[in-house]
Amino acid sequence: MPAPLLEVTGVARAFLQGERRIRVLEDISCSLAAGQRLTITGRSGSGKSTLLNLLAGLDRPDAGHIRWHIDDRDWDPATLDEAARTGFRRRHLGFVFQFFNLVPTLTALENVALMAELNGFDDAMERARSRLNRLGLADRMDAFPGTLSGGEQQRVAIARALVHEPAVVLADEPTGNLDRESGDAVFAELLAVLAAERRALVLVTHDPELAAGGDHHLALGTAR
Ligand SMILES: Nc1ncnc2c1ncn2[C@@H]1O[C@H](COP(=O)(O)OP(=O)(O)OP(=O)(O)O)[C@@H](O)[C@H]1O
Ligand SMILES: [Mg+2]
Repeated sequence: MPAPLLEVTGVARAFLQGERRIRVLEDISCSLAAGQRLTITGRSGSGKSTLLNLLAGLDRPDAGHIRWHIDDRDWDPATLDEAARTGFRRRHLGFVFQFFNLVPTLTALENVALMAELNGFDDAMERARSRLNRLGLADRMDAFPGTLSGGEQQRVAIARALVHEPAVVLADEPTGNLDRESGDAVFAELLAVLAAERRALVLVTHDPELAAGGDHHLALGTAR
């Protein structure tokens, strides 16, 4: 059997808040194969974003291990130095956030192309155009984020998350800031692209329907 894309084993993370040490994540284990979807739910403060940060190597676990298996290599973000971690994140992961996080002074096209340029693709503009086209944004490429609707901004963010062909997309409530109809449409498009290209998704969501649709589900926030 091929190694899974992601293996999380016994991960724990606590934070000091004043005098108190709060144990946010305790003994978290899960795995994910290429092209699969892992959904993460839990009340506010249960550690969903904390776990995504650990997966992305933006933070280190206090205990346990995170192992990515991508391009026939094992990556444990906690054992990489800063430069290697940044390189890993940039090359192999894509991110979609609740509040889109587009660069306001760049056009839709430039926002997407930037990510491809950072990864050294010579044809960054072409790739960005093609991604935006496929997400129905052919007419909005030269628009600045502030003039786009929420749904359009999130499509741009999805194009940006995919333009460098990452193995996995990490999404933190990607439809949390959209109305139901627009959110459903954007989410369906994201899933369609991921399925067609066999990319995995780690999805933080408050939506029970979206959470139930994954291959694996992690419900956080019961332990304290
Ligand atoms: N760097 C940090 N320093 C101290 N406390 C932190 C840090 N990061 C997170 N926390 C705390 O850890 C807990 C979990 O935070 P996290 O952001 O992971 O929650 P969440 O499940 O994503 O919540 P939400 O649904 O509101 O986004 C919170 O109590 C938060 O204040
Ligand atoms: Mg969060």
